[in-house]
Amino acid sequence: VAAPLTDTFGRRVSYLRLSVTDRCDLRCTYCMAEQMTFLPKKELLSLEELEQIADAFIRRGVTKIRITGGEPLVRRDIGDLFDRLGRRLGNGLEELTLTTNATLLTLHAARLYTAGVRRVNISLDTLNPETFKAVTRRGDLAQTLAGITAAKAAGLKVKINTVALKNQNVHEIPEMISWAHDQGFDITLIEVMPLGLTGEDRYDQYIPLLEIRDRLEQQWTLTEESARFADAGPSRYVRVAQTGGRLGFITPLTNNFCAGCNRVRVTCTGRIYMCLGQDDHVDLRAALREASNPEMALDAALSRALLGKPEKHAFGIRARAESPALPRHMSVTGG
Ligand code: GTP
Ligand code: 5AD
Ligand code: SF4
Repeated sequence: VAAPLTDTFGRRVSYLRLSVTDRCDLRCTYCMAEQMTFLPKKELLSLEELEQIADAFIRRGVTKIRITGGEPLVRRDIGDLFDRLGRRLGNGLEELTLTTNATLLTLHAARLYTAGVRRVNISLDTLNPETFKAVTRRGDLAQTLAGITAAKAAGLKVKINTVALKNQNVHEIPEMISWAHDQGFDITLIEVMPLGLTGEDRYDQYIPLLEIRDRLEQQWTLTEESARFADAGPSRYVRVAQTGGRLGFITPLTNNFCAGCNRVRVTCTGRIYMCLGQDDHVDLRAALREASNPEMALDAALSRALLGKPEKHAFGIRARAESPALPRHMSVTGG
C-alpha cells in the first residue's frame, strides 16, 4: 500500500469529496446567485478521469468518497459513475455516498442503492412550500419530499442538512427536527459560510448555532453523543431525549473543527483544494492528461498538494455588505 495521506499537522486524509458538476437545478440564496455562469460541459472530468482520480486516492488510503456538485444528480452519466465507483467497495473503499438536493432522487434512488450507496445527505432548509420557493428560488417542495421518500423506500439511510438562516427558517427549526426524527432521519444544522456572491447579504442570513441550541434546550433535553475524536468530521452530535433522534451541529464560524479535519476536495475540473477556505490548489487533470505515467504523476501531485493543507480556515461574517471570505461558491468545491 502506498504512503497514507498525512498532512504537515499530522492529520490523516481518509475522506474525498469529489465534485462531478458545478451545475444545479436550484439556486439557494446562501449558495448561488440567481444568474450563474457555469463551466462548458467539455471542461468537466470524464468518467474515466473521475475513476482514475478516485483510484489514486484509494491507493493512498482514502476509504470514504462523497460525490458532490453543484447537484451531482444533474450530471447525465451519474448512474454509470456510481456503478463504476461502487466496484471499489470492499477493495479499499468502505463508503460511497453523495450529498444531494433530492429533486432527482425519485429517478436515481434505487440505482444508487444497487451500486452500493447506503447513506445520502439531503439538503432541506424548510418544510414550508413558500419558504422553500424563496430559499431555493426555483424548487418545488413536493418534488423534493418525493425524492426523500424515494430514498427511504430504496433502503438508503437519510441525513438532512439544514442551513440555519436568520431571515428565512430559524423559527421552523424545532418543527424540522421533529419531522426528521419522526421519519428516522438524522438532521444536521449548518452555519452559513461566506463563500461566493449570492445577491443576498449573509449578514442577514447568519445566526450562530449556539443561539439556536440554547432555544432548543428550553424545550428539549440534549445529550452529547460521545466525545468527538480526530476523524469524526465537522458535525457534533447530540441525542434529543424527547424524539430519540440524532441532531448535529456544524459550526465553522463559531467553533471550527479543523483540528480533526480528515478530508480534501476535488472539483469537477480536477483541481484539488485542501481546505474549503483556501484558494491554493493543485491541478490533478494536468497530471492525468500530460504524463506518460498518469498513476505516478497523480500520486506525486497528491503528495505535493498535501503539503499545502492549512491548519484551519478563518471564515467570519462580521458586518453588513462584507465581501465573502472567498469569491468561489460552495458549489465549486461541493461543500
Ligand atoms: P457526513 O459524512 O454525514 O459526516 O457528512 P459531511 O458533513 O461530511 O458532508 P455534507 O456534504 O453533508 O456537508 C454538510 C455541510 O458541512 C456542508 O455545508 C459542508 O460544506 C460542510 N462541511 C463539510 N466538511 C467541511 C469542512 O471540512 N469544513 C467546513 N467549513 N465545512 C464543511
Ligand atoms: N454555507 C453553508 N452551507 C452551504 N451549503 C451550500 N452553500 C453553503 C454556504 N454558503 C450547503 C448546502 C448543502 C451542503 C453541501 O452545503 O445546503 O447541504
Ligand atoms: Fe444547489 Fe445545493 Fe447550492 Fe442549493 S445548496 S443551489 S441545492 S448546490
